[in-house]
Amino acid sequence: MKIYTNYFSLSVAKGDSFFNREDEIEEIKLSIMSSDSIWMSNWRRFGKTSALTEACRQLTLEKDVYGFNDVIFLNIDLSSCATKDMAYKLILKNIATAGEKCLNNKQKALKLFTDSLNGISRFVKLFGLTVGDSQLNVELRDRVDADSVSIGEALRVLDNVAVEQNIKIIMMLDEYQQVNEIVGKDERKSGNPISWDIRSGLQHCENISIAFCGSHKRMMEKLIEKEEALYKMCSKVELPRFSFDKCKSRVHQVANECRFTVEAGVAEAIYNYTNGHPRDFTLHCREVFKQASKNNTVITISIVDDAWQRVVVRDGLSDAKILIASKMSAKKKAEVALLYYVANHAVSVLENNPSVQLELSYSATALRVAKNLLIEEGWIYVDHDGNYEITEPLIKDGLIMISADLL
Ligand SMILES: Nc1ncnc2c1ncn2[C@@H]1O[C@H](COP(=O)(O)OP(=O)(O)O)[C@@H](O)[C@H]1O
Ligand SMILES: [Mg+2]
Repeated sequence: MKIYTNYFSLSVAKGDSFFNREDEIEEIKLSIMSSDSIWMSNWRRFGKTSALTEACRQLTLEKDVYGFNDVIFLNIDLSSCATKDMAYKLILKNIATAGEKCLNNKQKALKLFTDSLNGISRFVKLFGLTVGDSQLNVELRDRVDADSVSIGEALRVLDNVAVEQNIKIIMMLDEYQQVNEIVGKDERKSGNPISWDIRSGLQHCENISIAFCGSHKRMMEKLIEKEEALYKMCSKVELPRFSFDKCKSRVHQVANECRFTVEAGVAEAIYNYTNGHPRDFTLHCREVFKQASKNNTVITISIVDDAWQRVVVRDGLSDAKILIASKMSAKKKAEVALLYYVANHAVSVLENNPSVQLELSYSATALRVAKNLLIEEGWIYVDHDGNYEITEPLIKDGLIMISADLL
């Protein structure tokens, strides 16, 4: 018999814990197989990492069908890169690691990159070696060294090996909208140098696909204009909310396989709380099954309610606190006030709404700026009724809980 925890993963969903997204997985697999790149702008926790990981997992299992030897998946998160140099280092380090995996040998990989590129000391460092340690020491000593290694060239070197070894490589560049912050305004007047560098190599690659991902949906959309050439090289993959039908059949499928009984209306009640948000649905279901296992494996509506309260207290509250703290320290108090407001009210007009201005004591201009930033970063969105809504249901209820004590 299977255990419910196998189906509701606390980290990246793959295999048994992955469901839905059949079309998106097909699209990703097709793109990788034809070495096209992928553009994925989606709110955080909607399953970007999970979808790419699952697609690579499936391709690895099916590699004999497709006729290649292996798939390498690299997850490169640009969100913590503050400077161009940090971004370069991170990307090049991953390219170096992929080279090492392709060749199954660190020294061979080091030789490959140092033979083909100018940044010798850089690659020696990236491989975690010091020049003194390296067997290539003597060979390297007299070579010209430039500290600026082009990502484009490094990609081409890696691609050659990948083709030779018959290996597919997918590089996830996560929080890609960050390239705009990393590079100063002046420097990106004639296009972003990081994107330009990547594209110059990528367009010649046969076995490497890059997934340009970002959770700041609006910022990614703004980036499209500036990165038109890059965008044109990509197939677009959107990850929508989970539909009610998919969530319902998931709950019943897991209940069946793990021998739980489901009362009528349970799937509806879960959907009511989680609204098809992939991460919140997963956390909620996991808690529902956990509580039901203490109730002779019967899932009731009151268990669904109780489980939601538990995840709000455990996860929603802390997420909401982290969000508030990040905004307070950045002196974004109008954003904080708006977050509380949106969590507590169904409202379709924000900045030009006298009662909002009055209650929050901010001008229309201040509210508009705050609202736009919250939308850009994906914390709020406009729902199908035209009302502003907090993107993550757990954070919403966390905010409501905090504000109940404050207001
Ligand atoms: N297709 C899916 N099936 C099951 N759970 C999923 C799926 N996609 C996302 N999740 C759940 O949502 C959480 C966040 O997913 P993740 O892939 O990390 O999102 P992102 O990379 O967009 O932030 C995962 O830990 C998992 O619990
Ligand atoms: Mg992710």
